[in-house]
Amino acid sequence: MRAAILASGNGSNFEAIIQAVERQEIAMEVALVFSDKSNAYVLERAKNHQVEAVSFSPKDFSEKSVYEAELLHLLEEYQVEWVILAGYMRIIGPCLLEAFPQRIINIHPSLLPNFPGLHGIKDAFTAKVPQTGVTVHYIDAGVDTGPVIAQEAVTVAEEDTLESLEAKIHQVEHRLYPKVLAEISHNYKGA
Ligand code: GAR
Repeated sequence: MRAAILASGNGSNFEAIIQAVERQEIAMEVALVFSDKSNAYVLERAKNHQVEAVSFSPKDFSEKSVYEAELLHLLEEYQVEWVILAGYMRIIGPCLLEAFPQRIINIHPSLLPNFPGLHGIKDAFTAKVPQTGVTVHYIDAGVDTGPVIAQEAVTVAEEDTLESLEAKIHQVEHRLYPKVLAEISHNYKGA
């Protein structure tokens, strides 16, 4: 399967995915990394793995729909079949949703439907819940609401700080996301 990875920041999930691709555990060709932030570290990581890296921002366009149309154009140019969100901190609009039905996957750092939004880890930590976790799901028109593909729980220990909880969640993400993508890629029979 030919995929683009969309990310807004550090890109540690991209790193975990591309390493699994390089080990041939995921049957996926990463055609492109796209970021809406020109200074995102994920772009460096992409270049280090010889993956095309492209960035532009919604701020460069008159409105969000024009930004999305440009992004769709880019994905079509690279003949992308699947869109993998890895810390892409924007809502996916109708233009991309219609172009990639059930073909946009996201990872979220909580046990959805709990703690959707931008601060899944911090919100769970502040709420003092005994467990939180990681969700991989298909994207739909809502915010972190699409059909769940896989979830894994993480215990919040008495002695956990926000930082230690973040580390635990990221560790699970870096294992779970490549595992899910491996399964999807091996079941994918092509367009
Ligand atoms: C990850 O924890 C991911 O689950 C989260 O952003 C982080 C990106 O880290 N995504 C969301 O919160 C989406 N709502 P990374 O850039 O190191 O992969």
